[in-house]
Amino acid sequence: MKRKISIIPAFAIAMMAVANPNENDGKIIRISTDNTDLVLKVGENGRLYQTYLGPKLLNENELSSLDWAQHASSDGSVSKRGWEAYSASGNEDFFEPAIGVTHSDGNPTTYLYYVDSSVSQIDGGTQTDIHLRDDKYPFNVTLHYVAYPEENVIKTWSDIKHNENKPVLLSSYASAILYFNEASYFLTEFSSDWAKEAQMHSQQLQFGKKVVDTKLGSRAAMHTHPFFEIGLNGPVKEHSGEVLMGTLGWTGNFRFTFEIDNVGNLRVIPGINPYASNYELKAGEIFTTPEFIFTLSYDGASQGSRNMHEWARKYSLKDGLGSRMTLLNNWENTAFNFNQDILSQLMKEAKHLGVDMFLLDDGWFGNKYPRKDDHAGLGDWEVTHDKLPDGISALVNAAENADVKFGIWIEPEMVNPKSELYEKHPDWVIEQPNRDTYYYRNQLVLDMSNPEVQDYVYGVVDNILTENPKVAYFKWDCNSPITNIYSPYHKNKQGQLYIDHVRGIYNVLKRIKEKYPNVPMMLCSGGGARCDYEALKYFTEFWCSDNTDPIERIYIQWGFSQFFPTKAMAAHVTSWNKNTSIKFRTDVASMCKLGFDIGLKDLNSNELAYCQQAIENWKRLQPAIMDGTQYRLVSPYETNHAVVEYLDKEKNQGVIFAYNLSPRFQEKLHRVKLQGLDPTKKYLVKEINLMPDSKTQFAQNNKTFSGDYLMKIGLDVLSYAHNSSMVIEIIAQ
Ligand code: DGJ
Repeated sequence: MKRKISIIPAFAIAMMAVANPNENDGKIIRISTDNTDLVLKVGENGRLYQTYLGPKLLNENELSSLDWAQHASSDGSVSKRGWEAYSASGNEDFFEPAIGVTHSDGNPTTYLYYVDSSVSQIDGGTQTDIHLRDDKYPFNVTLHYVAYPEENVIKTWSDIKHNENKPVLLSSYASAILYFNEASYFLTEFSSDWAKEAQMHSQQLQFGKKVVDTKLGSRAAMHTHPFFEIGLNGPVKEHSGEVLMGTLGWTGNFRFTFEIDNVGNLRVIPGINPYASNYELKAGEIFTTPEFIFTLSYDGASQGSRNMHEWARKYSLKDGLGSRMTLLNNWENTAFNFNQDILSQLMKEAKHLGVDMFLLDDGWFGNKYPRKDDHAGLGDWEVTHDKLPDGISALVNAAENADVKFGIWIEPEMVNPKSELYEKHPDWVIEQPNRDTYYYRNQLVLDMSNPEVQDYVYGVVDNILTENPKVAYFKWDCNSPITNIYSPYHKNKQGQLYIDHVRGIYNVLKRIKEKYPNVPMMLCSGGGARCDYEALKYFTEFWCSDNTDPIERIYIQWGFSQFFPTKAMAAHVTSWNKNTSIKFRTDVASMCKLGFDIGLKDLNSNELAYCQQAIENWKRLQPAIMDGTQYRLVSPYETNHAVVEYLDKEKNQGVIFAYNLSPRFQEKLHRVKLQGLDPTKKYLVKEINLMPDSKTQFAQNNKTFSGDYLMKIGLDVLSYAHNSSMVIEIIAQ
């Protein structure tokens, strides 16, 4: 006799798995760092709410008195409406949700109930995973939070998946939501453009929404960067006050929504920008949102930045704890005009200067359509025979003979229509089938969502390294946003393009990192239009800006330093703004990963000797500048000066970079108080990076002071001389 097998549909199993609403009522999930608590609680309706985010609470037993229901109307009554940890469209929350879903039957509402959660230890932190599920649909969200206690950083992201009969449509898919209940909120955002990156602007947020987003696709952070600061109860200050600092690890379109509701609460919603990206999610497919990384500082942005820097070096940035190579680049010096002899000469100059590497920039490839300017050649990654008849191997040998390493520029996600690649594979390109084509820098973007294109792009790096294993470095550029938005690969699913394109880039970068884990790479995007912590898992540093005018660079570096450690930020000494001295230009670049992009013939002997000395100093001071702690002491946004201090972990070696931009006649020059020193140690202070023919103007030169004195009384490092700089080394005795 046949046994009767009863098959329970997956749909029913999913619904059975939703916990009884009362079963977990009152369950508390505490996500803690050393200084901060994020507390979540299951409400009596079985859904999950944020009950607290702020300074760490002393008494565990008081967490239960945090009510999940908030004042939901301004008449003071408490209706049962809370701050849902991952609010969904179509329920009783009347403000911006984290996720918008149209289920397979067309129903646009989603109610997520707590199912279960788990906690595990991972490298440097504690990971909490919380599983939520709709009670009427087999639709699941898993929230992930990793708390890094020592660095006071929390990283959060979500996985979305379902088991419905047909695909569901996701119209939004944030990484997380955070809520605040304070008297006032002030946003600092970072606007950008070519040569104008990381410009800081602040404003008070009022009722309604402020959206910071980008729709550029590939050169995605060209107009604004994926990070922000929120001052709670006052504008963001450098050394005091509570500030939320958050950044999204996503190299494509992102969106930050800041919404103040009817009772003055703020919600912060970071995520991929769903612009033109209704995402069709198949049953069983997991949609993983990007990581949102945040810190709460109770001592202003300076401390928040230090949290981010520490965290990034230890847990995120590629080779975050490793050293970095100084270099000589040829872009500003030669542009496209070079040949083997010129490059060999530059390699010798690199050695003479004292840097570790020569970096060959754009213009070395293409034969049918040689890359002699930016109109042709992108896509054809073969050395131009006329220009470099002996190929990359000859360049590698020349570098070896000059005793420097060799690095090379690529822009592998792009194509010029004037290229053999475009002729062979027009279907690999993002381009409209039925409209005129718009060109940005005469180029188009390859469709990275297409696996064949991914293989090709991976091959660009793989071929170079297979043929020339001694290539020691890549500068990976990306000069165009996605234009003519249409993917021949996705055909009738164009909503996937923006997202799958970025995922395609990550697939390639993952493969490269797996095969070549130790090759350092610079992330570049027409300057600093790519600067996020997901890309930086694959890159050792990023190029902050093509703008190397040192005055502008002080502001640009000040902006990026809010979120990135020095060693992630590349800066080169160039001929931009020759009205400023080589010393001023080099001192500014020395606050980042130092490089040069200048012909030595442009320097007189004093200037050259100065640069050589500055490079040696920079290398010696790496424990402070690259791996130490940064204190932004005087802001160029608030004064006519800028001062930044770096101190090594042992508090034995430090350096202060002081700049005078355009001080006013007879303005008050105050002493600058240092930070972070050991008050009981004695420190010798002395000026370094002096031009060979000049004498120090530093009043306290070669004197010894206690850390206490230096932090309470300070040093006279400011002056009236426009566009001048002073670099002071601090040495524990
Ligand atoms: C833009 C980059 O930012 C520059 O440094 C340089 O590499 C050019 N592209 C080359 O085309």
